Amino acid sequence: MSNQQNSDTEIFRAIEWKDDYLRVIDQTFLPSREIYTNLTNPGQVWEAIRNLKVRGAPAIGIAAAYGLYLGARELPDSSFDSFFLEIERLQEYLATSRPTAVNLEWALNRIVNTLLGHKDKEIDELKKIMLKTAKTIHDEDLRLCKSIGEKGQQIIPKKAKILTHCNTGFLATAGYGTAFSVIWHAHQNGNLEKVWVDETRPLFQGARLTTWELQKEEIPFQLITDSAAGFLMQQDKVDIIIVGADRIASNGDTANKIGTYSLAVLAKAHEIPFFVAAPYSSIDTGLSDGSGITIEERKDIEITSFGNKEIAPSKTDVYNPAFDITPNHLITAFITEKGVIDPDFEKNLKQLTITE
Ligand code: MRU
Repeated sequence: MSNQQNSDTEIFRAIEWKDDYLRVIDQTFLPSREIYTNLTNPGQVWEAIRNLKVRGAPAIGIAAAYGLYLGARELPDSSFDSFFLEIERLQEYLATSRPTAVNLEWALNRIVNTLLGHKDKEIDELKKIMLKTAKTIHDEDLRLCKSIGEKGQQIIPKKAKILTHCNTGFLATAGYGTAFSVIWHAHQNGNLEKVWVDETRPLFQGARLTTWELQKEEIPFQLITDSAAGFLMQQDKVDIIIVGADRIASNGDTANKIGTYSLAVLAKAHEIPFFVAAPYSSIDTGLSDGSGITIEERKDIEITSFGNKEIAPSKTDVYNPAFDITPNHLITAFITEKGVIDPDFEKNLKQLTITE
């Protein structure tokens, strides 16, 4: 069902807290099957994140936050210090599920830091506080994503042809998405001509997931191979590019799905504005630039096979980075919940993190 004109209570939700477990749509089955899976312990949450059942930077932060609570609720009554030691172990474990998106460690840190402010409370009370904080992170992400979409409208030209990469929508967040939210709102405002969707090799988040969301929302789009993007730009068929982010360093260098950097270089060569849409939770204030970002490397089989068919000779040596880093000078501006952030990013991104 389309989310158009619906209120926030009726939108599609990829992640839902159901009284005592987490229900997520298993994104590995999309677009052919809509299968939901219930996660009841941290091991299941870890596995769901690692295997991309839950994916997209904000979504994995939300899932990990609930995962930490799911582990905490099994812990016995004890002193604050022993409880906290176990929580730190769980935090460390969940943080190993995927390395690049900062939202994961951000969400876990937020819960752990909240606990530190309640050392005097009973263990039962602490568990409730953890669940409440996970729900706050979840609800807040929905608000931030909606705001990103609304604030992003100022950069949308009339009858825009927008190119996007990977999946940044309802599936990747609590709702609306980041880059997808800007696109969704442009469509609502009658300002969108079409979306060019990069297939996003090797796991096809564009072909499998973004097209699925666009179809649901009745937004006009065409799917392209990643390597067609430059040709379209050369032919004047792209007005702007909007992508999401997995980790933004303090100077604006941005890690996002592999292929993003190539798009940014092409955009520069064709003088096409290149925007990154993200909430404050995607900014890593501890990193001065992108050189310190850990890039996830994934299995060979993601490249050497297509479905169940081998497409490279056996024993082919493979390098499969899942993300790349776009340097700040290739980014026109960031679209955030607080508005559009222009360079100087080092200075201007600070306003996002200081007041939250
Ligand atoms: O490997 P994935 O599918 O988790 O990668 C996701 C992306 O790269 C998205 O662009 C990013 O997380 C932003 S999601 C709002």
